[in-house]
Amino acid sequence: MKKITIAIDGFSSTGKSTLAKQLANHLGYVFVDTGAMYRAVTLFAMQHGYMSADFFDKKSLVNSLPFIKLVFKFNADLGYGEMYLNDVNVETEIRKIEVSHFVSKVAEVSEVRSKLVEQQQEMGKDKGIVMDGRDIGTVVFPDAELKIFMTSSPVTRAQRRYDELIAKGDVITFEEVIENVVERDYIDSHRKDSPLVMADDAIEIDNSHLDREEQFQLVLDLVNECTKSL
Ligand code: DC
Repeated sequence: MKKITIAIDGFSSTGKSTLAKQLANHLGYVFVDTGAMYRAVTLFAMQHGYMSADFFDKKSLVNSLPFIKLVFKFNADLGYGEMYLNDVNVETEIRKIEVSHFVSKVAEVSEVRSKLVEQQQEMGKDKGIVMDGRDIGTVVFPDAELKIFMTSSPVTRAQRRYDELIAKGDVITFEEVIENVVERDYIDSHRKDSPLVMADDAIEIDNSHLDREEQFQLVLDLVNECTKSL
């Protein structure tokens, strides 16, 4: 069957990566979580003292971009690629709330975006890819055959992220998580460069009342329809 490009965009914690992973495993496609790339650049900035609560040395981060190597290495046990920053596995660290607090600031920087978008386009040049993020259907792959835009209520999303973080052993309150989710959505949707907007030809899925399996089946039907018509 002909391979297509599947772009999944949407607000934070809408389950984009979960759906993208499920689809990629089922279809034998490559899965790319672009949020992990923005998170890894943020971790680099934090490790080098380029950012803290009230401080962001954008210039130093931009100058360091040539020295930031991002690679997804496939982990057969997990069934997806883990993020490596300069050859170190940072998969756990990049999911922590400290990184979530700073990542939207880093994602506003145009030089960071161009570097990551270029790498993402290269990864998808042979199609057969499911990529999730905020600008996949609008900027990275505007010609993707299937574009999904995921939404759900902020409370549902914060609850999902909270449960995930607690399960990983993080010490955090629900209020802290919902505040972060709402703040990131605001910054992501209002930034100048590649804001989070739904592509005109995207299909919106509100999964507030769908379970994982229902959502997967719904999107799989869309994939089948799309590949049939090629
Ligand atoms: O999907 P996530 O929550 O892990 O993404 C982390 C942040 O990265 C998110 O707040 C916005 C940013 N991001 C982006 O600007 N563009 C993308 N394609 C993916 C993520």
